[in-house]
Amino acid sequence: MATVEFVMDELTVDVDEGAKMIDVCKQEGSSVPFGCSNGVCGTCITKIVSGNENLSSPTPRESQTLEMFGADDGDHRLLCQCTVHGDVTLDSP
Ligand code: FES
Repeated sequence: MATVEFVMDELTVDVDEGAKMIDVCKQEGSSVPFGCSNGVCGTCITKIVSGNENLSSPTPRESQTLEMFGADDGDHRLLCQCTVHGDVTLDSP
């Protein structure tokens, strides 16, 4: 089990290891918006407050999109592309 905290929603949930963040966000009612769900549109860019090391590594597509939106600072991820492997704290971008 892992814990995901959505600071902007005052929401903390327990999730299974390997869960897709997009599924967690939608099932738990977080305010993270999604568009393409495919790592291209940048709609789901989210700030990772802590636990970035507990998310799956960025794919080349995710890295390219983060760079395109100027969010390739190591503190932001596309939640439609991540799986959870430990505790993570998130906030609005
Ligand atoms: S929803 Fe489009 S990049 Fe994540």
